[in-house]
Amino acid sequence: MTTSQHCFDDTERATIYRAIALRRDMRHFTPSPPLPDDQLERLLQAAHAAPSVGLMQPWRFMRLSTPPWRERLIGIVEAERQRTADALGARGAEFLRLKVEGLRDCAELLGVVLAPDDGTVFGRLSQPREMAWCSAACAVQNLWLAARAENLGLGWVSMFDPAQLACALALPEGAEPLGLLCLGPVPRFYDQPMLEETGWRHARPLSEMLMAPPAP
Ligand SMILES: Cc1cc2nc3c(=O)[nH]c(=O)nc-3n(C[C@H](O)[C@H](O)[C@H](O)COP(=O)(O)O)c2cc1C
Repeated sequence: MTTSQHCFDDTERATIYRAIALRRDMRHFTPSPPLPDDQLERLLQAAHAAPSVGLMQPWRFMRLSTPPWRERLIGIVEAERQRTADALGARGAEFLRLKVEGLRDCAELLGVVLAPDDGTVFGRLSQPREMAWCSAACAVQNLWLAARAENLGLGWVSMFDPAQLACALALPEGAEPLGLLCLGPVPRFYDQPMLEETGWRHARPLSEMLMAPPAP
């Protein structure tokens, strides 16, 4: 590639920042047919282009869009939603009024799975599990942004019992389910995180996240 091919111009740069700003975690979907194969392939290639510790590429994707899979997974998620409400105590009833997944209506339902440990040492000697998780999360973020650029919503659903889901998906020993990804056309993208729109929680500004280092 030439030097100019490596550079983003102002318009391209603005588009990238716009996709980052307009990405939302989506729970409301427009019931739609499955995505065209070439579009799904593009999205998964974007996920697969993510960085990973030691280049271990620990992400795996499973297409779970059939009605029987949806029904099974809705049951698993619903049980965890109820457990979450119990754990929230006084805010449990308010929590139960929130929409926390779009498993029934999304065009595609994907499982994202952490592969069994391949023994990679490079970059993960002292935090092997955490660094593998971080790498898989990078893949999901790539998918999230690529989906947004394709005007598709994506919602990461993490409300499930991992052992129960691993068993349902017949995952090999050592593999872990990380998320159920609801993907597809949406009626509208939320202007703000849905948890803000509903008053559940408010996002804090970047200025509160900047830490001053101690003296070296
Ligand atoms: C690892 C992870 C797991 C999440 N799990 C859920 C979930 O189970 N249900 C849900 O409604 N949102 C889930 N979310 C979405 C967050 O609530 C959302 O990202 C946050 O409120 C900010 O909104 P935004 O993504 O639209 O900016 C998850 C997000 C991440 C990164």
